[in-house]
Amino acid sequence: VNLILLGPPGAGKGTQARMLQDAFGLVQLSTGDLLRGAVAAGTEAGLAAKAVMESGALVSDEIVLAVLRERLADSDVAAGIILDGFPRTAGQAAALDELMAERAQQIDAVISMAVDDEAMVGRVSGRYTCASCGEGYHDLFKQPATAGVCDKCGGTQMKRRADDNADTVRTRLAAYHADTAPLIDYYAARGTLTEIDAMAEIGQVRADLAAIVKKLT
Ligand code: AP5
Ligand code: ZN
Repeated sequence: VNLILLGPPGAGKGTQARMLQDAFGLVQLSTGDLLRGAVAAGTEAGLAAKAVMESGALVSDEIVLAVLRERLADSDVAAGIILDGFPRTAGQAAALDELMAERAQQIDAVISMAVDDEAMVGRVSGRYTCASCGEGYHDLFKQPATAGVCDKCGGTQMKRRADDNADTVRTRLAAYHADTAPLIDYYAARGTLTEIDAMAEIGQVRADLAAIVKKLT
């Protein structure tokens, strides 16, 4: 099964993709994570992407597609993928169609995570993640059982993203509405779109998503 999670910053794409990965053995492919990895590694793509990401604008399709193609060459993705944060432009959606055709595969469902923009500023500003395993947390909505200790791996180093401040979140939301939201109609026209209420509690959203994926497997 290959899925797309479509939604603005803070909608819960990463949170839910990790849960689906654990529950269904699918592989989360976050272009944001891939790009942050490239920035950290200081690759050519990373050097070009760093300032753009910090501003909250979209990185060029060319760079995004290069990092994604490289990751798709790994063998583990054959189990099925959850695209988290990709595609984000009409050009990326067209390139994804080609990539899927090359692999003789298809996107089985596109899940649009509907939320209120204003709530996203609070969600993103309160977010932090485990530096060892990447598990995501929130100052108010999802705290580890023991403060500062990751539930999943026991790691004690937590980190925050450079682009998770209120100003940059507003730029990211604007980029979402300008370039990414039109993809909702693109996939609806193909009949692959399902919308879920992503304002609900994390556990409820998880249950709604699991029900959709179960039907496909
Ligand atoms: P990316 O890393 O993709 O970030 P994003 O789309 O802005 O999404 P976020 O990671 O902020 O949100 P999320 O939906 O994953 O929310 P999360 O689950 O963490 O992109 C970053 C940058 O990289 C872009 O700005 C761009 O520059 C570049 N980029 C990446 N992909 C690109 C592409 N394809 N093309 C061009 N440029 C690209 O949840 C947020 C917080 O809320 C967490 O703390 C979580 O615990 C909490 N939370 C989650 N769900 C709920 C809930 N239901 N109720 C309450 N709290 C919740
Ligand atoms: Zn951890």
